[in-house]
Amino acid sequence: MVKVFINGYGNIGRRLATALSVDKEIQFVGVAKYTIDEKVKEALDNHYNVFVPEDMVGLCKEKGYDVTGTVKDAVGRADLVVDAAKEGGGFENKKNLYLPMNKPAIFQGGEDRHGEFAVADMIHNSRVNYDKAAGKTYVIQGSCNVSGMGRIMQPLKEKFGDRILRYDVSLIRRWADLEDTKAVKDSIEWDRNPHHQDDVKDFIPDANLYVDAFKVPSRMMHLHHMMIRFKDKAPTRDEILECYRKEFGVAILKSAKGTADVRKKAIELGFVHGDTNMVHIHEDILRVQDDTVKLAYSDDQTGMVIPENHMLIQSMVFKRPRAEALARTDSLFQMSKKRKILEEEAFK
Ligand SMILES: NC(=O)c1ccc[n+]([C@@H]2O[C@H](COP(=O)([O-])OP(=O)(O)OC[C@H]3O[C@@H](n4cnc5c(N)ncnc54)[C@H](OP(=O)(O)O)[C@@H]3O)[C@@H](O)[C@H]2O)c1
Repeated sequence: MVKVFINGYGNIGRRLATALSVDKEIQFVGVAKYTIDEKVKEALDNHYNVFVPEDMVGLCKEKGYDVTGTVKDAVGRADLVVDAAKEGGGFENKKNLYLPMNKPAIFQGGEDRHGEFAVADMIHNSRVNYDKAAGKTYVIQGSCNVSGMGRIMQPLKEKFGDRILRYDVSLIRRWADLEDTKAVKDSIEWDRNPHHQDDVKDFIPDANLYVDAFKVPSRMMHLHHMMIRFKDKAPTRDEILECYRKEFGVAILKSAKGTADVRKKAIELGFVHGDTNMVHIHEDILRVQDDTVKLAYSDDQTGMVIPENHMLIQSMVFKRPRAEALARTDSLFQMSKKRKILEEEAFK
């Protein structure tokens, strides 16, 4: 049994709470809130203990919210903190709370791996370096895009090795998540310095990878368009698809028309939080041209990293063999079942 506290209750924190609070080998300490809003009520209605900064305890009580204590109390009670602060907030939390209180922590993909604000010396991807996280004190769980790229690139690397010359990826990113209240701007914007290329190279160091990222006015999923260039003639479509038939967290869809199709179907099918928790290869637009494979897959940004965090806990804390961890994560998130429904019923 491990006591886990989730520091943050935004898009990622809420999803982590849903999953970790029902895992039988986790004693769930609770979640942190930093703003007094309707999400405090939601967390309390879900029967989570809610912790707030010290100066908010009185105000919460005044407003009738029965919070359990301070964030500092919660960190003290936990064996492991899963930090789910908004991008960059994990660094301050590590400095002010986790380091002084000697608490291990998992950080999310918006934190830095290098430089003065670095929070950890590795980025986890359960497909690539799961074992390396065993016993570590601080680890970053790669972001949704970085997790998705690792999941797609590693099987290719294992099957085709040095026949692959380079990967060029255009990341087409959603503007905001469905739950976000911020407006979606009518513009296509570019990222001058996308972090994804360096992040992926943290766990696949020899990948000759080049990433460009564009943000589009959508709230649905990300789409990655990956060009894989081979030394000689590229493999066939079937050979490429064969790499993913048994891959955990990869669905192969034949008839989806776009990212909204996949997201709306997940919601309609009653998947928890409307997440598929995977990447979806779009077989209908997989192209092989001379020496190049053009692979497009959508990436469930909000859902992808939740099972990844669950895998990471099993490596860091329980040092469990990967196959066993995958089986537990699959049972908690029902990913094989969801994949089957998506592939064989929804988008066959
Ligand atoms: N959204 C995605 O699709 C996605 C996917 C993969 C990875 N990530 C990464 O996950 C992290 C969280 O993203 P998100 O989308 O969940 O952000 P979010 O929805 O904006 O939520 C951020 C949360 O941080 C809380 N917070 C404020 N100050 C804090 C502090 N000092 N310590 C801890 N939490 C604090 C906020 O609480 P209040 O609301 O109470 O103020 C809010 O609930 C980021 O690193 C992001 O890059 C996000």
